[in-house]
Amino acid sequence: MKNSFAVAIDGPAGSGKSSVARALSERFNFIHFDSGACYRAVAFYFLSKGIKDIQRIEQADLSSLIQLEYLKGSLYLNGKKLGEEIRTPDVSRFTSDISTKKTVRDFVTASIRDMIRGHNVIMEGRDIGSVVLPDADLKVYLTATPRERAKRRLKEWQENGEQIELKEVIKEIERRDQQDSNRSLAPLKPAENAILLDTTSLSFHEVVEEISSLILKKKGDSGYYKEG
Ligand code: DC
Repeated sequence: MKNSFAVAIDGPAGSGKSSVARALSERFNFIHFDSGACYRAVAFYFLSKGIKDIQRIEQADLSSLIQLEYLKGSLYLNGKKLGEEIRTPDVSRFTSDISTKKTVRDFVTASIRDMIRGHNVIMEGRDIGSVVLPDADLKVYLTATPRERAKRRLKEWQENGEQIELKEVIKEIERRDQQDSNRSLAPLKPAENAILLDTTSLSFHEVVEEISSLILKKKGDSGYYKEG
């Protein structure tokens, strides 16, 4: 019998992964783990040191420079709690650039596995079902049209005071989709046994309900039991 349960939620930027994963983690009292935040943390670390040379990053011993920790629902970079500073357009762009590199992916994947060991988790990302947690109990792949995803991202950025136009966001989303889908390592694509869910015309509530019922069904099937 297993004593932990893992849900992988993958999909492109703006597909609704984060808000859906957060709501599900609250409903089921699981950890919500945002794997993209780990890639962002690595990008932020180098940008804040003024290092933009990707070759140099590729050759660095990341584990001697960067320590990622997950404490009480927050990600820490070398002992410092991270917030919105990892979500700026600059950091987003650089994150997409460095996350194509094996050194970075191996470091982040190993860090994530360490951080969540033994916990029930709803994990969001791009390669969770395919690479990070290939044995996840449930794998969901969320999609939506680039325009719909750009509208969602624009709203988030505007709430954070960023001034940017919708057509710029669509262009940026398409650029990142292209890069994330075409990289040779862990490209953005649904895991073989993932359930595909197009959220373009679904409400947030509908998406959460749909995945909740999938989780309940899997929990029943998996031999998982809740402690305490
Ligand atoms: O989900 P996000 O937008 O915060 O992700 C930021 C970047 O990190 C995105 O360009 C792709 C990359 N990423 C990845 O390569 N693999 C993951 N599991 C999560 C994110």
